[in-house]
Amino acid sequence: MNVTIIGGGYVGLVTGACLSTLNHNVTIVEIFPEKVEAINSAVPPIYEEGLEDILKARVGKNLTASTTYESVQTADAVFIAVGTPPNPDGSANLTYIRQAAENIAEELAKAHTEYPVVVVKSTVPPGTTKNVVCKTIREKLPDLKFGCCMNPEFLREGRAVFDFMNPDRIVIGTADARAADVMHSLYAGIEAPILDVEPTAAEMIKYTSNALLAAKISFANEIGNLCKKLGVDVYEVMKGVGMDSRVSPKFLNAGAGFGGSCFPKDVSALADIIRKENLEPVFLDAVLKVNDLQPLRMISLLEEKIGELTGKRIAVLGLAFKDNTDDIRESRSIPVIEKLLAAGAKPVCYDPMASDAMQKLLPNAEYVATAASALIEADGCLVMTEWPEFTKLDKEFDLMKTRAIIDGRHILSIPDAEGICW
Ligand SMILES: NC(=O)c1ccc[n+]([C@@H]2O[C@H](COP(=O)([O-])OP(=O)(O)OC[C@H]3O[C@@H](n4cnc5c(N)ncnc54)[C@H](O)[C@@H]3O)[C@@H](O)[C@H]2O)c1
Repeated sequence: MNVTIIGGGYVGLVTGACLSTLNHNVTIVEIFPEKVEAINSAVPPIYEEGLEDILKARVGKNLTASTTYESVQTADAVFIAVGTPPNPDGSANLTYIRQAAENIAEELAKAHTEYPVVVVKSTVPPGTTKNVVCKTIREKLPDLKFGCCMNPEFLREGRAVFDFMNPDRIVIGTADARAADVMHSLYAGIEAPILDVEPTAAEMIKYTSNALLAAKISFANEIGNLCKKLGVDVYEVMKGVGMDSRVSPKFLNAGAGFGGSCFPKDVSALADIIRKENLEPVFLDAVLKVNDLQPLRMISLLEEKIGELTGKRIAVLGLAFKDNTDDIRESRSIPVIEKLLAAGAKPVCYDPMASDAMQKLLPNAEYVATAASALIEADGCLVMTEWPEFTKLDKEFDLMKTRAIIDGRHILSIPDAEGICW
C-alpha cells in the first residue's frame, strides 16, 4: 500500500520506518527540513534502537521523507502523527492536528486514490477524529469518499521499534467496514490481537491506558512513602503485590515519580476532559499531586541529612526523564534543580545524554562531563534517572565531602545510599 505519515517525530518516524519493513511504500511528511534531510540520508534525527538499520535498508527503496504533502494524492492511508502538547491549563493543544487535517484536505482536493483512509495516530481527546479531523476534510470536500480511523500508538520511547513490531494489541477505531479492511491489511505482517472499536473508544483507550499506568506509579509512590516511615521495604511489598496475576508487577516501582512527553500531559488532558463534562477528576488530580510532591521529597530527605542547603554543592545524577533517551520533557530533575537553586544551593549536574537540553532550560546550574566530576567535594548527591552506568558507581562517592546520597530510582548498590521510599 501507499502510506503517507504526517509528522516525522518519535511516533511518525517509527511508524513509517516499521510500515516500510512490511513492504508498504511510505512517505513521511515533516515540516522541519533538517529532519527530512536526516531521514533521507538514513540518519535518524532521534535515537531509537534498530531505527538506523531500518533507514539504511529502506530509504531510497520504499521509504522517503518530504517537506511537501504531494504523496497524500496517491496514498491509500494517511496517518496523522503530529504532536498534541499541553495548553497551559492542561488541555490538549490541537493546533497541529487541525493544520494537518487542512493540509491533507488541500492535497486530496487536487487528486486522490479511490478511497483514501485518514488515520489519527496522535493521542487526541475523544471526538477529535470525527469532529475535528474528518469534519474538516468533509467540509472542504463534501463529495469525497474517504475512510476515517483512529489508531492509537502504545510504543515506549527507547524501545519504540520493538514495541511497534510486537504490540500487545492493535486498536483500530472506525465505524466504517471499508476503512477497517484497509487497516487490517496494513497491519497484516504484525502478529497481535486486533481490537475493532468506534473511533471515540479508541481515543479513550489511549488516554485511559496512560492514566492507569501513571496511577500505578503514583500509587506505588504513596505506599513507598508510608513503607519508608514504617521501615518496610516497598520493593518487597510491590513484588508480593505484583505476583497477583490480577495486578502485574509492572509500573509498581516506587521512586521520584513519572515524567516524559506522555504521562503528565495525557493525565492532565484526561482530567481536563472530565472537568469539561462537569465531573470532578478526583482520582486523576491525586495521581498528579503525588507526582508533583514526590521529587520534592528528594530535597527534604537531603535536608534531613545535611541541614540548610544554602551554599552547598549538590551532585544531581540523571537529567533525562528516563534512561536511554536525551528527552528531558517533564523530567523529575527539573523541579529538583529549581528547588536547589531557589534554596541557594549549587547543583552540579551530570547525564550521559541530556545535559545540553537541561543546560538550555536551566542555565544557572553547573553541568559536568562525568558522574565523578559532579561528586568531587559534593555535600550531597541526588540520583534522579535510572541510567545503568549509575549502578556501577562506587569509589566515586568517596570524592564527596559528605556522603549524603539519596537514590530516587532504586539503582545504587552502595550500602549507605538512602532510598526515597526505602
Ligand atoms: N513519544 C511517545 O512515546 C508517544 C507514544 C504514543 C503516542 N504518542 C503521541 O503521538 C503524537 C506525536 O508524538 P511524538 O512524540 O512523535 O511528537 P514529536 O513532537 O516528536 O513529533 C511530531 C512531529 O510532527 C511535526 N509536525 C507538526 N505539524 C506538522 C505538519 N502540519 N505537517 C508535518 N509535520 C508536522 C513536528 O515538526 C514533529 O517533528 C502525540 O499526540 C503523542 O502524545 C507519543
